[in-house]
Order: sequence, then structure tokens, then C-alpha cells
Amino acid sequence: MINLKPLSHPLKGTIQAPGDKSISHRSIILGSLAEGVTTVQNLLLSEDCKRTIECFKQLGVSFKTTETGITINGKNFALEEPIEPLYFGNSGTTARLMLGVLAGQPFFTRVYGDEYLSKRPMMRVINPLKKMGALINGRNNGQLLPLSITGNNLESIFYEMPVKSAQVKSSILLATLYSKGRTTIIEKTVTRNHTENMLKAFGANIMVRNQEITLESSKLIGTNIFVPGDISSAAFFIVAALIVPSSSITIKNVNLNETRAGILTVLDKMGANYTIKNEKISNYEAFGDISIKHQTLRGTTIQGDLIPLLIDELPIIALLASQCEGETIVRDAEELRVKETDRIKATVEVLKKLGANIVETKDGMIIKGKTPLTGGSVRSYYDHRIAMMIVIASLISRESVFLDELDSIKISYPNFLQDLETLAEI
Ligand code: S3P
Repeated sequence: MINLKPLSHPLKGTIQAPGDKSISHRSIILGSLAEGVTTVQNLLLSEDCKRTIECFKQLGVSFKTTETGITINGKNFALEEPIEPLYFGNSGTTARLMLGVLAGQPFFTRVYGDEYLSKRPMMRVINPLKKMGALINGRNNGQLLPLSITGNNLESIFYEMPVKSAQVKSSILLATLYSKGRTTIIEKTVTRNHTENMLKAFGANIMVRNQEITLESSKLIGTNIFVPGDISSAAFFIVAALIVPSSSITIKNVNLNETRAGILTVLDKMGANYTIKNEKISNYEAFGDISIKHQTLRGTTIQGDLIPLLIDELPIIALLASQCEGETIVRDAEELRVKETDRIKATVEVLKKLGANIVETKDGMIIKGKTPLTGGSVRSYYDHRIAMMIVIASLISRESVFLDELDSIKISYPNFLQDLETLAEI
């Protein structure tokens, strides 16, 4: 067990948010499919993103690491049949998006993941891909990894999204690049739109109107991408600054895309004061510097269309809620149950053990604050976001928090502990 000791002083200073994980995956994928060279600056080289790079290496794409990121020599859609199975590790984004890419290839591929990813639902992408003509087989009647994909000609589809998932939407869009005709996707609830933005940046023929996305197979031209900082990673330090007394920090270059910035809406609802400076836009993605200080906030209700805009931040928001005055209710978040682990169960179990007043509901949780955290022994379930939430909780606990592992953090934020050290140094 790792002994996480409480912090006896405030967090101060400035850090750069690590490159956005979702945008990093998409830059690797579209750069690999495009014609010509793509340069990516501030790419997140985390375990999940490395899995996507390794997949494309096996499909014949070459990458060069540079001082600021990577250069990709695009294959103009002509990928090569891999000899060995492709390994997705723990990465749901790699799995769902790669299935979209592989469905339309004129060759055979086998794919697999780690023990956690092997339990996660894949039918949400297999169903629409099969409608397009994909031939996918695998474990548990073709529903779970490992899977095999036999190349086939794809047709376009008209698809109303039954799940609120950017991974599913993106998988269909990527398959559309290899299909005949024009595909239309209707989203009842808005989810992160990085694939649409990046397709535009690579020159694809994509149209987005209200919640209707239309795409047809298009040429992609290599380009220069700057990956803004990940708001889902920044969220850990935003909450840390809010709950550790006398803290005051700045996080630079945080992605402010409104389909991702739901946590800022929650902070507004909770009555937080913070500033955003140096706002810029690159490849249709907004970003800026967030400065925030310690303060006590009030509980709120988080539900409905707001949920997909902060889905990955809910474990750390639950910790914040335990330090707010009053009640916070999270509803409509059943998707959390099929993440790297069941994040409703894990968040409630961890925070309850550490002394919070929190109960699990079918589709969320109810947290009553403000409750001091006592410390204790907890598990991350090898979920990076649960592990990082626990590290932040330990900063304000009365006694040490004992945690089973920190290794999972490298999945999305390899420099997390160094950034914490930077802010904790006085
Ligand atoms: C992601 C979409 C979300 C999110 C995940 C990354 C993406 O998943 O939770 O961490 O990059 O598209 P869903 O699409 O399953 O909601």
C-alpha cells in the first residue's frame, strides 16, 4: 500500500495542463489516414495514446518524435494488413475509434485489450458498424474483446444515437471515411465534438448543423495540430486548489471547448470565483489559462444534458461536493458504470471510507457536505481517475490515506505527481 500523507501547506504556482487525451487520439488517427505530413505539438504521450500510436505502427504508419510532439507520415488511407493482433490496453477510446477505422479496411485484423477493457461494452459501436456492412466477430457472441474484423465494403447510414457517447459517434465518422455515400448522425444530447473539429482541420467534407452531423468519404490533408491542455486532467488541480486552504494556482492552456467544459458550469452553479485569461483558438478548439483559489462552495444538482460535458470529471467533482456546504445530487450519469471501472460504485466506496457523507443511487450519487475527511485504506480499481481523485483527497485528510497503486495514473496523466510536487513546493 502507498502511504499518501496529508498536505500541511497550500498549493501555489503555475502548471501547464497535459495535452488533451481525446484530441491526442484523434490527431494520431487522422494524421495517420491523411495524405502527407502532420505535425502534432503538445501531444499527450500517455499509455492510452501510446496504444493508438502502436496500432498505427502495426498498420504501416511511421512516426517521428520531435522536441515538442510528433510528426506523422500519413498513408492517405492505404493502411497495411497487420501480422500480429492489435493491442488496445486499457483504452476505450483506442478500442472504439480503431474499430471504426478497421471496419472498412480490405484486410483482416484481430484486436484485444487488458482485463478491464475486455469487460467494457463494444456492441454500442459494433451495432452501427454492422449496419454499415462491417464483419465483426468475437468473444461472448461477438460482443466483447477480443474481436476480429474481416474487411468489407461499407455503406453510409442514417443513425440516431441511442447512447450518449462521443466514442460511438467518432467510430461511425471514421468508418464513413472508408464508405460509399453520405452518413448522417443525429445526437439527442451533445457529446464532445473533437472528431468533427479535427475532421474540419484536415479538410474533410463534414457538415454540422444543430445536433445533426453529415459526412462523406473525403480526402484528408496533413496539417499542423496544437493539442490544448486536458480539462479532465486540469480538473484534479482545480478541485485541489478549491479544497486545500490558502491555495492559489494557475493552469495554462486548458481546453475550453464547450462540449468539454461542463465542470466550469458546475463551478458557476456552486458559486466559485475563478478567472480565465489568454483565450485562444487553434484548429477549432478554444483554450486559455485558468486561475483559481481556495474557497468554500455550495452544493448543486448535476443532471441531464450537462452530464456528457463533464462525464470524466464526476469522481473529482464528488470529492469537491464533499467539501461544499449543503447537498449535491448527481443524476442521469449511469454511463459512469461502464467506464474503466464502475465509477459510481468506486467513487462512493472510496469517499465513504475516507469519511464523506455520500450515497450511491441507480444513476448517480448524493453527497452532503461539508464533511472533514479522516483518511483510511482504499483501492483505485486500476482506474486512473479514481486514483488521482484519491491522491487529491489525501491532501486534506486528517490522517494518511493508503492506496493500492498509482501506476494507472500513467493512462492519462503521466506527469500528475510531478505537477502536484510543483504546486506543493513552497
Ligand atoms: C471519450 C469519450 C468519453 C470519455 C472518454 C473519452 C472520447 O467516453 O468518457 O474518456 O475521447 O471520445 P464515451 O464516448 O463512452 O462517453
